[in-house]
Amino acid sequence: MSDDILMHREGGVMTLTFNRVDKKNAITTTMYLDLANALRDAAQDDSVRVAVLQGAVEVFSAGNDLADFLKNPPNADAVEQAPVIQFLEAIRTFPKPLVAGVCGPAVGIGATMLLHCDLVYAGDNAAFSLPFVNLGVCAEGGSSLLLPMLSGYQRAAEKLLLGEAFYAEEALDMGLVTRVLPPHEVAAYAQAQATKLAAKPSESLRVTKALMKQPQPGLQGVMVEEIRHFCRLLNGPAAKEAIQAVMEKRKPDFSKF
Ligand code: COA
Repeated sequence: MSDDILMHREGGVMTLTFNRVDKKNAITTTMYLDLANALRDAAQDDSVRVAVLQGAVEVFSAGNDLADFLKNPPNADAVEQAPVIQFLEAIRTFPKPLVAGVCGPAVGIGATMLLHCDLVYAGDNAAFSLPFVNLGVCAEGGSSLLLPMLSGYQRAAEKLLLGEAFYAEEALDMGLVTRVLPPHEVAAYAQAQATKLAAKPSESLRVTKALMKQPQPGLQGVMVEEIRHFCRLLNGPAAKEAIQAVMEKRKPDFSKF
């Protein structure tokens, strides 16, 4: 595992921490693979009863690393093997409770991954955004299905089509977040809730989670379809202009696309 993801085990709780704060915890292909491997191993390991995903007190994650989008874009013909899909599949299918602690920006997949977590504790400094359209790509991580289910079509459309930031209290109201706390309390609270879960009968937790996830039968297909469109759009001129503009800290010009 690279230093950009820290893994910590205490009792039955495995904690995975984004540790690339200088790049706002933007996620690289190596980090996706580290996360996917850790979650797949934890799913099989009886001594892990709960997993926690967290960032730093000032930032959760700026989403996919934008330089990686240009250097190592996921291959549209082999999306199932793409590191990002391996990670998304690992969280979608994770059979044990998954708790997230989110403070600061949670952008793109930094926000959509939360739709797959069971409990999401957010700092009152949390700022969520789903800027896929603004980047010339499209919704991913199952968000085109899960966000309308969770928050209603109109609210999901506002977040996914405009891509503007929204904050902890609205995310709580939308059902994306379980509870809002002062940022410095989030990690300890998430850990305490995870420890409580780890002391409960593991099969009862697993069965209850599996039953609650049953109303999402089409999710895997939607996630693959999203990423196929995403890869196609990522290779198109609008995404190239958008990503270049973010990296050059200027406004993109979509007048030709
Ligand atoms: N990929 C790669 N690098 C990123 C990044 C990303 N997604 N997000 C931030 N960084 C890097 C910046 O390039 C900068 O690097 P530098 O110090 O070498 O110049 C560093 O992280 C700090 O970023 P900065 O933008 O100065 O921080 P900020 O506090 O002003 O803003 C964010 C934080 C997260 C709001 C802002 O960085 C942002 O919007 N990032 C892009 C998010 C995005 O579009 N993600 C893709 C979603 S699909």
